[in-house]
Amino acid sequence: MKIGVLTGGGDCPGLNAVIRAIVAKGSKYDFDILSIRSGWQGMIQGKIVPITTESISGILPRGGTIIGTSRTNPFKKEGDIRKTLDNYKRFGMDAIIAIGGEDTLGVANKLSKKGVNVVGVPKTIDNDLGCTDYTFGFDTAVTIATEAIDRLHSTAESHDRIIVLEVMGRHTGWIATMAGLAGGADCILIPEKPFNIDDICGLIKKRHERGKNFSIIVVAEGVKPQKGTDFVVQDQEVDAFGHIRLGGISHTIAKAIEGKTGYETRVTILGHIQRGGTPTSFDRILATRFGVAAIELVRKGEFGKMVSLQGNKIVTVALEDAVATLKTVDLSLFEIAEVFFG
Ligand code: F6P
Repeated sequence: MKIGVLTGGGDCPGLNAVIRAIVAKGSKYDFDILSIRSGWQGMIQGKIVPITTESISGILPRGGTIIGTSRTNPFKKEGDIRKTLDNYKRFGMDAIIAIGGEDTLGVANKLSKKGVNVVGVPKTIDNDLGCTDYTFGFDTAVTIATEAIDRLHSTAESHDRIIVLEVMGRHTGWIATMAGLAGGADCILIPEKPFNIDDICGLIKKRHERGKNFSIIVVAEGVKPQKGTDFVVQDQEVDAFGHIRLGGISHTIAKAIEGKTGYETRVTILGHIQRGGTPTSFDRILATRFGVAAIELVRKGEFGKMVSLQGNKIVTVALEDAVATLKTVDLSLFEIAEVFFG
């Protein structure tokens, strides 16, 4: 069998661990693995080369993806789907394993309906993909964000400052919630719960009354205020899937806090640090389990499916179901974080 593998969307710690598992497990069945360069772009442009067991040596702890990634959407530009299907045939592929989040796997789902044999592997630091308890990369992002909160605590306390930490999370606040819980944030803002700046300032003032002259506010980049005030973005450019580039709302929030409370307020935007570098052991193991399971699905001819983690078991779900709705933050978990606000 000839199996193409691609990584699409934002990179994520653990991608190389999945690739390694696919190649290693595939070699046990004498499958030929082809690397499709830079996500769906490689399928459109025919940038496809074999990947062997030699090429996976030493990649388990490496961040990023050795086969490149992009946010290319082959359904966006006229003719790109035809090129994708032509290259699928031209390179003699029997199946494609697509490693990605909602956008990449959304494309995989549509291709599956066009007769391409596709298996999905759930990836995103945002953890917002449906039908899986966790995506790999999320644990690493939470670990990095938690360390940032710990570090910000000591400097905030020394200077009597409010520090607003902005983490990733376009549609959902998983990283903010989990890192905020782990780091003991004094307030967490997530897209699932539009915020009220006066409530936040009220919490901060109460802390000061109790003699706590510093606060850490964790903000997911996709948060929105309750009453339709400005939604701050870096620019108006959208990617091939129509997403605006985010980043920067914490500055508006910090300014409002300083203005309303009079307390010195600073901002830290964690940005791509959350996505770079080596995966945690949890993500390495999850990614490895996903990669091995994906090869098993291909071997059994179970296409149009995604491997998924449910409880502690790797199971199989329909790609269609996985991309149907985003998985938002479990609000009962958020309520636990709220116990420690203010
Ligand atoms: O989808 C993962 C993610 O890291 C989001 O949290 C974030 O909004 C986006 O990617 C950033 O994308 P880019 O690296 O293309 O700016």
